[in-house]
Parts: sequence; structure tokens; C-alpha cells
Amino acid sequence: MASQTINNDETKVRKAVREHYAGAAKSVSSCCGGGTPKASSCGCGTSTTAAEPSTKGLYNAEDFDSLPEDVTNISLGCGDPVTLASLKPGQTVLDLGSGGGIDCFLAGRKVGSTGKVIGVEMTPEMLDKARANKAKMGADNVEFRLGEIEHLPVSDNSVDVVISNCVINLSPDKPQVLREILRVLKPGGRMAVSDIVTSGDLPRDIKASMSSWVGCIAGAMDADEMASLMKEIGFTNISFKPNYFSKEMVADTVKQAGYTGGMSNAELRKAVFSASISAEKPV
Ligand SMILES: C[S@@+](CC[C@H](N)C(=O)[O-])C[C@H]1O[C@@H](n2cnc3c(N)ncnc32)[C@H](O)[C@@H]1O
Repeated sequence: MASQTINNDETKVRKAVREHYAGAAKSVSSCCGGGTPKASSCGCGTSTTAAEPSTKGLYNAEDFDSLPEDVTNISLGCGDPVTLASLKPGQTVLDLGSGGGIDCFLAGRKVGSTGKVIGVEMTPEMLDKARANKAKMGADNVEFRLGEIEHLPVSDNSVDVVISNCVINLSPDKPQVLREILRVLKPGGRMAVSDIVTSGDLPRDIKASMSSWVGCIAGAMDADEMASLMKEIGFTNISFKPNYFSKEMVADTVKQAGYTGGMSNAELRKAVFSASISAEKPV
């Protein structure tokens, strides 16, 4: 897969992303009962021991440990958008690419019974996992919808906060995703997103690799370009805060993505990183 050329073919990218995350959802089901997660992720987390989910270090430990293993074992993000969002009781929250549901469940606790969380996910196998987790947790204020983040099944001006964890980089049409976020946010609403972005150009073999795309590297946008695009589309108060990975994490991710040369791991660490991205829809 690493040598496959992307050619900006949206259908091909979407199919590869869906197949990759369907596989991740299935591999988790085969390791029920705990232990090392088998899900193949963006490779963005920082596991503290071999038996812990790789994203544990991204979250507040108490929040993370309070969730069932069926939720934490399928956590595939690269940050903690719920903490970034500073949610309040009663708010309506939308999670783009909700996967197994971890951020929806954490957000659901913050907004409480008077609030609501909607997770939108395009991979049916992930949606099944999330819905099973919802039933297990009795998370009545959380709803999962099948759909693409480029065509959100959500009405205009209806959401207080849009969150997302390591998903926008996977989209072959990022301007459309950003326009959709702006459409569904209420005036004065906020986006609080953790995502992989880049600084400067990546080597051609990384950009051309479908496995690097599904592993959250090749599709990542340059942070400055994304900020300009967000401004052009109509967001205000745009902020990008970099969270660099450890050298070991970069080495693991590069290996997972099948990348073999060109840039040193130290250079890659500054070139590809997770960012806490926030912005507002003008009132
Ligand atoms: C890296 S995983 C992150 C899942 C979740 N946010 C988390 O933190 O565990 C990316 C998820 O986004 C979904 N996804 C990718 N592209 C999407 C799109 N265009 N529309 C909807 N879901 C998408 C994938 O199916 C996958 O479940």
C-alpha cells in the first residue's frame, strides 16, 4: 500500500480510509477483555506501558480511567479536544469522525442531561462499536449518526461546539469540511479540534503514500495554510497550538506508515505534529 499513488482521487482516499478504520474497529473486537489494543491508529498517542492504550497520555488520567476498556481500547485520536472545548452544561456538541465514541462520552458528561452530543462517523463498523459502547454506558445524551464530515447530517446554526480528534487530516476535501463546520455552528459557536498538521513540505514519498494518508500524515495540511483557509471561509479568533510528539513516537509512526528515508526523525518531529486548533463563528 505504501507505494500506491494518491493522485488526489477523493473516492479512492475515502475508500482507503474507510477500509483502514473498519479494520481497526474489527481488530479491537478480537482483543476484548483488555490487554494491548490492536487498533491501528494515527499512531499519535504516548503509551506509558505496553498494556495501555496508546492515547492514554493525551487525556486527563482520571477521565480516561473512568471509561470502559471497550471505549479506551478504540481511542485513535491525537489530542484531547474535550478539554480544549471547555464545555458547559446544556450545550450541544458535535464530534466529527467520532470513531468508537471516546470524546462523545467525555463531552456527554460535561454537557449533562440538559445538553446533547452528536457523533458523525462514516465507517459503519466504527458506528456499531460506538453504539454498543453507548448502550453499555447508558449515555442517553449521546447520539451517533452515519455520515461524512463533508456533508454533515446536522441542521444549520444548531451546534454550540464542534470537536474532532484526528479526523480532518483524513478528509480529501478540507475546505468543504470547514464550510460545513461553519454552517452547523450557532453564531458565536466554537470549534475545538485536535488534529495532525504540518509545517513546511513533506518528502514526496510520504505525500504520495496511501498508507501515510490513512495513518494521518500525508493528508495533513500545513498549519499556516489551514489558518488562512479558515479565515477566508469566515472563522474568527483562530488559534493553532503545537503539541510535538516525542522522538520515539515519531519513529514508531514513521515505521507504521512505511516511510523509509529522506528526513531525520528530529526534522519530522518539527514538520508533522498534533495541534490544538480553536476558532469561532462570528456572531
Ligand atoms: C483516527 S480515527 C479517530 C476516531 C476518534 N475521533 C478518536 O479519537 O478515537 C478517524 C475516524 O474518522 C472517521 N472518518 C475519517 N474520514 C471521515 C469522513 N470524511 N467522514 C466521517 N468520518 C470519517 C474514520 O472512520 C475513523 O473512525
